[in-house]
Amino acid sequence: MSDKNKAWDGRFEEANDPVFESMNRSLAYDIRMYKEDIQLNVAWSRELARLGVLTEKEFSSIVKGLAELEVQINEKGIELFDKSTEDIHMGIEALLATKIGDTAKKIHFGKSRNDQVATDQRLYTLRSIDELLSLLQSVMKSIYTLASENNGVMMPGFTHLRQAQPLQLSHWLMSWFFLLERDAQRLKDTLPRISIMPLGSAALSGTTLAVNRESLRKELGFAKISDNSMDGVSSRDFMLELMSTIAILSGNLSRMAEDMILYSSEQFGYFELSDKVSTGSSIMPNKKNPDSLELIRAKAGRLLGNYTALFTVIKALPSTYNKDLQEDKERLFDSLDTIKQVLHVTQTTLSTLSVNKSAMQKSIDPLSFATELADYLSAMKMPFREAHKITGKIVLDCIKEQKVLTEMTETDLLKYSPQFGGIGNDWASHELFLAKRDVYGGTGTSSVDRQLERAANVLDTLF
Ligand code: ARG
Repeated sequence: MSDKNKAWDGRFEEANDPVFESMNRSLAYDIRMYKEDIQLNVAWSRELARLGVLTEKEFSSIVKGLAELEVQINEKGIELFDKSTEDIHMGIEALLATKIGDTAKKIHFGKSRNDQVATDQRLYTLRSIDELLSLLQSVMKSIYTLASENNGVMMPGFTHLRQAQPLQLSHWLMSWFFLLERDAQRLKDTLPRISIMPLGSAALSGTTLAVNRESLRKELGFAKISDNSMDGVSSRDFMLELMSTIAILSGNLSRMAEDMILYSSEQFGYFELSDKVSTGSSIMPNKKNPDSLELIRAKAGRLLGNYTALFTVIKALPSTYNKDLQEDKERLFDSLDTIKQVLHVTQTTLSTLSVNKSAMQKSIDPLSFATELADYLSAMKMPFREAHKITGKIVLDCIKEQKVLTEMTETDLLKYSPQFGGIGNDWASHELFLAKRDVYGGTGTSSVDRQLERAANVLDTLF
């Protein structure tokens, strides 16, 4: 028995198996592109009217009907559609027919769902990137604000998670800022390759109608039109590019979250997370857990998973449209939703963070000033390897004799080498440590000031 709700009714004698039918149905997730689909249908119908396929009267009833539908879908969502609706494209056409009658049956002339879905997805994605960029900008602003407010605060710097050399907290913060600047650049770089309009490609070979693709492009707001109809309907590299960019961004945020999880733990005590982004334990009344940061860390796995899933779907498909491509949507939409959530929570965490300056400064291990001694000897013309060895011996003695390295006076140091002459007793002051690291990019005072100036400029010009 034929299924009367299907658009391809004529060719079929039997209805679909119900489980296959539900597998085939994408409305639950592609409904989010209803605005783009309506916009596309209006633009396409305008061309149909220009070409005389539709009368002006038919065209205005289509435009009016679609505008009403947009409002209704916005209010009622999926409830508005017949339960058997396969996807948003069939759904809108069917709903339009219930409003304006047979005229609705003319709007699909010359187009295919293949160029339609590819166009909708590109439009939808373009709009989402604007939102992503503004969220990312807020995160970068919060980092910049924290760095400006805490400029001059010292903290331990780590390699291998062992104390290495002291740093300025603002330097640590700016390390994330400049990483995220590249993420923002990468996001912006995807735009020209997304802003390509496939509409007019029809199923695969190009539409038979003399549509003006240039007017369609302008109306829909694309930067250019696709050069080849087969490429137009089948390519999803724009999604892979964006999803890999999102995965890299989330990997970067995950690294920053990891530092913050450590730094806000009791052992470190550098940061206190606000209640807004912390959770308690169902059994231990004492607990305040950094679930926000842990989830930010975990979402990177999910986002890489989305990228990998879509890549795997696409990699061996024959030319051109294959239904496998319907699987692109959930992965893309999940990546967009997830990264928006991650950026929002990252921003809230940063903007509500308290910094425990004295805990940071107090926890700087005096031994992490050892390089200053080796550098001093080398500046006095001792070969660095020799200076390293002598300083290593001083460190070992400090550990064995429980002496504080930074409290060693010039007289103490002279016992190890006469070349310590002139070093003074203040050789391990923070001021001196910073003054020696004013190479641009270093943690020195004026270098960090310059980084902050550069960052302010990035915030003004990049977005
Ligand atoms: N829902 C489909 C998708 O998302 C639309 C395109 C269907 N095209 C087709 N030839 N069956 O990919």
